This record gives sequence, structure tokens and C-alpha cells, in this order.
Amino acid sequence: MSMDAEILSALRAVCGGAVSGAELSQAMGVSRAAVWARIEVLRSLGYDIEASPHLGYRLLSVPDVLHADDLISRLGRTGVIGRDIRVFEQTTSTNDVVDKLARDGVKEGVVVFAESQTKGRGRLGRKWASPARKGLWFSMLLRPDLRPQQATQLTVASATSLRRAIETQTGLKPEIKWPNDILVAGKKVAGILTELNAELDQIKYVVLGLGVDVNQSLAEFPAEFRKSATSLKIEAGRPVSRSELAVAILRELDRDYARINAGDFSSVADEWEEHCTTLGRQVVLRMGERQLHGRAEALGEDGALLLRTEHGHLERIVGGDVALEK
Ligand code: BTN
Repeated sequence: MSMDAEILSALRAVCGGAVSGAELSQAMGVSRAAVWARIEVLRSLGYDIEASPHLGYRLLSVPDVLHADDLISRLGRTGVIGRDIRVFEQTTSTNDVVDKLARDGVKEGVVVFAESQTKGRGRLGRKWASPARKGLWFSMLLRPDLRPQQATQLTVASATSLRRAIETQTGLKPEIKWPNDILVAGKKVAGILTELNAELDQIKYVVLGLGVDVNQSLAEFPAEFRKSATSLKIEAGRPVSRSELAVAILRELDRDYARINAGDFSSVADEWEEHCTTLGRQVVLRMGERQLHGRAEALGEDGALLLRTEHGHLERIVGGDVALEK
């Protein structure tokens, strides 16, 4: 753990109480002046830390910024996801940053956040608006032992993790739209972009990118999305802490990734089915020029959507865009 993460963990552990400079310097094996220097850095980032000559340091409030050390200290030990966290002020797309890390041989589990993205992208070549400090824009590197056809399992697992974390942090009741949209009150609050690098029968790595609209007001959405998109702040009626939500999502993702690695996709799929608004409904699936009408029946073993077409065939769908029929 870095010095900043250790200081923040120690201050959090006493829940608003004080920790003396001597205690911190002893625990960390550095001088009191070095502790003080790091406290000053944290203050410059917006952490409100009171320093009293008699009592020591007290954490009064934390800023709404993403700070890698702070995220690591709050997250604690995980199996895979989040054992390395990096935060950028701005990137093109966090998926690109993680793709580069993957090619450089970095271990799976690294997570990259950006406060804003200049070229955020969504599924099917769409743009993804990523305004500064309004949402969570992040990607992670996975190296699962799966075949390419099973990659949808990861999207399904991330949708269940994301849904659970949003529910516990906000009290909202999010729903899932196949395969990767998280909706609240019928409007989209989050999406997942899974990008794969694979050989014929083995995934080499996966970049899983998540975008969550957290603290935008309605006016801050581009006009064309105001009917279909929303933010957690709009739905919950209060701002939501991005760093707390980020930590909750990473914890849930780590849990679901462990379930998949243990070969237990079926329990993830059950949970997904329980919260999916698409199943049992008449839908239209669009894949480029092609349109397919039918009833969304179930989730296949590999995460594909099983669609009973109007002609009675059961089709296995792994891509495209699903909309409920009017
Ligand atoms: C979708 O619903 O179409 C998926 C949206 C995924 C957006 C996230 S934001 C972080 C990561 N970087 C990107 O460029 N896209 C994903």
C-alpha cells in the first residue's frame, strides 16, 4: 500500500477520531515530517484533514475525486479485480488504455478509471459521453480461461454485479436489459462494453469497460438522450458518492468473476434472469440491417439470449440490440 493509502486507511479506521503523527510515522516506518508532507498532498487534492497539535490528524470529509490510493485502501484485499488501480484525469477511452496494458503483459485485475474520456465508446460503434467527474468511466483487464463463445458470461456477470452495487449504494431497483444495459425506471443509467482478444478456441484477454451515469442533471445529457437516459442522482434525488460506488462495483465484480472462474455461471445466470426485463417479452432484435422478431425465452448456458422467433425457431443471440415490441 502507498503512504497515502495507509494514511487514509488509518484515519478511516478510527471513524472520525484522531490518529497522532507519531502513531502514523511509527506504523509506516517514516518520519513525522514525511507523514505531514503526504497529509499536505492529500489536502491539496481536497481531503479535509484537521491537524491538531495535541490529538493528531482527523479526516473530516473526502472530495468527490477518484484517487487510486484511496480506492485501493477502501477496497481492501480482493481476489483478482482491483489489485492494481490507476486513475487518469483524462484519456481517449479507458478500454484503449487497458488494451495497451494487456499487450504489455500486465496481470489481470488491473482497473483503469478516467475522470473524463475524449473518445468514450459504446457498443455497436456508438459514442459514449463521459463528462468530467459526473460518472464512472472505467475498464478492467481479465484473462479468463474461457472459449470466445463464452465471453458473454462476463458481460452477464458484470451486469449482475453492477445492478447489485447500484442497489446497495442508492436503494434504487435497477433492472437489466439484455445483454448489458442497466435501467432505472425504464431509462439507461449504465452500460458495459466487452472487447475481446482471442484465438480460435481460447480467449487471450478481455477488456471490460463500464460506464455509469452518476451525478448528471437532466440538462447535462445531450438533448437526444434525455428521454432514454438518466443518472443515479436524478433517480435517487441526491448526489451519489462516485468513489463509494466504484468500490462497491469492484467488490461485486470480483465476487462474480470468482463465481465464473469456479465454473458456477448458472448461479450468476439465475440472478441475472431474476432482474432482467427482457425475458418473457416480445422483442425486436436489430443486428445491422437484419431484424428478428420473437419472444425472449431464456439465457443460454454461455450467456447468449435464446429467442423464439415468430417462425417458431429457437435462435441463439450473442450480439445486436434488443428493444421491447410496442
Ligand atoms: C454501451 O452501453 O454501449 C456500453 C458503454 C460502455 C462505456 C464505457 S465508459 C468506460 C469504457 N471506455 C469506453 O470507451 N467505453 C467504456
